[in-house]
Amino acid sequence: MIYLDNGATSFPKPEPVRRAVSAAMACCGNPGRGGYPAAMEAVGRIYGCREAAAELFDCRPEQVVLTSSCTHGLNMAIQTLVKPGDRVVISGFEHNAVTRPLHGLGVQIAVAGRRLFDPEDTLTQWEDALRRGADAAVFTHVSNVFGYILPVEEMAELCRVYEVPFVVDAAQSAGSLPVSLGQWGADFIAAPGHKGLLGPMGTGLLLCNRLPKPLLAGGTGSESQNQEMPDFLPDRGEPGTPNVAGIAGLAAGIGLVRRMGLSRIANREHWEAKRCAEGLKKLGFPVFSGEYQGGTVSFIPRMDCEEAAGILGKHGIAVRAGLHCAPLAHESAGTLKTGTVRISFGPEATPEQSWAFLQAARHLL
Ligand code: ALA
Repeated sequence: MIYLDNGATSFPKPEPVRRAVSAAMACCGNPGRGGYPAAMEAVGRIYGCREAAAELFDCRPEQVVLTSSCTHGLNMAIQTLVKPGDRVVISGFEHNAVTRPLHGLGVQIAVAGRRLFDPEDTLTQWEDALRRGADAAVFTHVSNVFGYILPVEEMAELCRVYEVPFVVDAAQSAGSLPVSLGQWGADFIAAPGHKGLLGPMGTGLLLCNRLPKPLLAGGTGSESQNQEMPDFLPDRGEPGTPNVAGIAGLAAGIGLVRRMGLSRIANREHWEAKRCAEGLKKLGFPVFSGEYQGGTVSFIPRMDCEEAAGILGKHGIAVRAGLHCAPLAHESAGTLKTGTVRISFGPEATPEQSWAFLQAARHLL
């Protein structure tokens, strides 16, 4: 199978990640709940993950709260910054992991910047929306549907200028583009562990520049006499026994990403996405592509998207079709009714994968 669904999760997990998971299962007890060697092994692995993430994302290890997914981190961040009735500015390419929590809180959502691959327009609309007043802002770094790389540094700067607290969703960029808590000055940045960071599913990170509101309360192994959740990081965001094996795997995944290098990963993904976009255009499909694009491309197959994904699957190509849990992004691009077929590359992207995909795409004609 040619796996082109890295936007959903990286697959298969690299051997060092699988080894780290298995080793942790064999030798780790419950971290922070005992001083015996197996418990201390777990503490060491978890700290190793926090340290690796801190180096990659330009923050301190204690600012890394380990979560069960990017969605978990986004919910924690949004519930910290936003209250019912607030006005919240978001980009036109947000995932349901952003829009549903906001909807659930009953906020006034202002969507700013709906043109694909047009950072100038994104920034103009963004500033305009912030100027009208906002209690918080949430924006994705890269669209999970179209691969559009938003001008996050400038969007972050505008939030700082207008003194609007903000959250960045790095679901599709962590592990392939630079993400910096320090430089961006975000209140929070959420990332999954299982996509670009190559870790197991069930892992994620919330990088914190302020104390999060805990979504769950419970044991942390610290300040047990206190009935309030600890008021320090990372314990405030991490009640309950953690996913030690998953976190050990995530540490190994981050290690691999750092050894491969972000620019090498980004280049490979970008060039293969571009190769596929050009090939699809030659075959006559409407394709969404542009200059500011990562390793993800969407196209319209001129038949039902799910059916097209099924045909590609029969020819050995794994892709995702439909709305990709991001109806807002599809609305922005005008594809809410049809959906799209999405191909998304990972760090091991090769021209052979693209050629195989383009061969299979002929069966959609
Ligand atoms: N959010 C993930 C995707 O885009 C699952 O496929």
